[in-house]
Amino acid sequence: MAEPVLVAVAWPYASGSRHLGHLAGAYLPADIYARYQRLAGNDVLMVSGSDVHGTPITVRADAEGVTPAEIVERYHTEFCRQWEMLGISWDLYTTTGTRNHAEVTQDMFLVQLRNGHIDKRVSEQFYDPVGQRFLPDRYIEGTCPHCDFGAARGDQCEHCGTTLDATDLIEPRSKISGAVPELRPTEHFYFRYSDFTERVDSWLKTRRRWRPHVLNSSFGWTNEGLQDRAITRDLDWGVELPVDDLGEGKRIYVWYDAVIGYLSASKEWAARRGDPDAWKRWWHHDDAHHVYFIGKDNIPFHTMLWPAQLMGYGGLHLPDNVPANQYVTFSGAKMAAGRGVGLTIGEGLRLFEPDSLRYALAAALPEHADTEVSITEIARRINDELVAAWGNLVNRVLSLAQSALGGVIPEAADRRPDDDALLAAGDAALCDEADCIERVELRAGLRSAMESAARVNAYLNSNEPWKLVSTDPDRAAAVLVTALEAMGGVRTGLAPYLPFSTVVLDGVFGPLERWSRPDLRPGTRLPKPEPLFTKVDPDTIGAAVGDEAGDG
Ligand code: MF3
Ligand code: ZN
Repeated sequence: MAEPVLVAVAWPYASGSRHLGHLAGAYLPADIYARYQRLAGNDVLMVSGSDVHGTPITVRADAEGVTPAEIVERYHTEFCRQWEMLGISWDLYTTTGTRNHAEVTQDMFLVQLRNGHIDKRVSEQFYDPVGQRFLPDRYIEGTCPHCDFGAARGDQCEHCGTTLDATDLIEPRSKISGAVPELRPTEHFYFRYSDFTERVDSWLKTRRRWRPHVLNSSFGWTNEGLQDRAITRDLDWGVELPVDDLGEGKRIYVWYDAVIGYLSASKEWAARRGDPDAWKRWWHHDDAHHVYFIGKDNIPFHTMLWPAQLMGYGGLHLPDNVPANQYVTFSGAKMAAGRGVGLTIGEGLRLFEPDSLRYALAAALPEHADTEVSITEIARRINDELVAAWGNLVNRVLSLAQSALGGVIPEAADRRPDDDALLAAGDAALCDEADCIERVELRAGLRSAMESAARVNAYLNSNEPWKLVSTDPDRAAAVLVTALEAMGGVRTGLAPYLPFSTVVLDGVFGPLERWSRPDLRPGTRLPKPEPLFTKVDPDTIGAAVGDEAGDG
């Protein structure tokens, strides 16, 4: 019955602080989805880790005059602390710097080499005559040949998302010295992605219910045909080659190895729990369901290149959905500082409670279009939606339960059709929400849960149990019990989004174990209400942001 669900989440470069846009783009939606799937009774394996290789890391290390290992250590530690604070419920969060990851990568390389999908070629690559070294990927900038963006990097154009070879760039320049680079021959291994154009294209055509923007951009690229790409680099930082043909100073290319992280992390997870074959349930079974949570700049790597690498290895499960998000843009003078990326996750966590931040971002997930958020908008959502509709509801009902019911759940004697209608509507909403989350429409799922909260508020307003207490105590009790029961359903619906505040309600409903409305147990002693969330003051926060503004 239980399906193996792999929740595969983009591996953040350990090269700098991540922003709220990254959180909303991949980590938060993945966590919401995983938490829902566990409640739905499926076997979830949620993995990721810090991407510790490639020129994002070495460029940063060069700039600071420290080793790549120091950069990696600093940001990996920061990420781990933040995932904990945010309640991101990894089954394993590791790094691509492990022995295991190197071995899994090398095994894939060797099998694909044996299968004829990898070959060696001499090509002309950019060399910095001043810095006296080759200039892979992010050591080069220039103009994108596809969209004319002026600051495209040697590995990918950030503007149009196209993956590039540095030699595609118009007017390239060295990021080390600013010099005009010259071409020099160098030998590298290439993955023959072009062998897979047909297979990837027809596989993409069998994908159901994918986001249109993900499919559209992917077909745009398969129509042009996949390009063979070098999967090694002139660097001394990265996974070592399992063959020594190329000599010193060559490492495996970060994008070839990073995507393998999904598999290597699954294996590491299995090994750590003392059952080294356990990963196979997710990777060798047709009934498995693999969902990749990424931002849109990562689309080509996950819808074409990783599938091609998997096909070139054979026998491993291909992605079932890649619900890539668009970008979150930040508006407002302060938020637009720097490159318009807004607050870092650390800054967000200093300003807001974790569940409040999760709520505001989940309500604005950029699922189908770029979405603008601002401090004012986050504050408004917390105060006017989360606190007003849900926090206050819990407070109000638990306070009334103390004063009118003596703090103990009674039997609901005087039940009316109105009450059953409320509960039925809440149950239908939970089904609806489940359907939304399965389609990875997480914003709509949250809306459905919040509408249920609003229905309970409306029910209380029309039944006015605070007046019935003196005129008709039995009916007052029935209304409050009904409201409590309905709240139990809302709490289930909000649990994937708000893990910290929903756990506080365990005292009322017992621990949450299933995707359903829990039964109340008459006789249960109810906890005294305490506010689930703190209201935020937009002015104080605005002022704090002035102090917090950093480049990240
Ligand atoms: N490190 C890449 C980034 O931050 C994402 C890699 S996702 C992976 O853009 F799965 F391929 F690792
Ligand atoms: Zn471009």
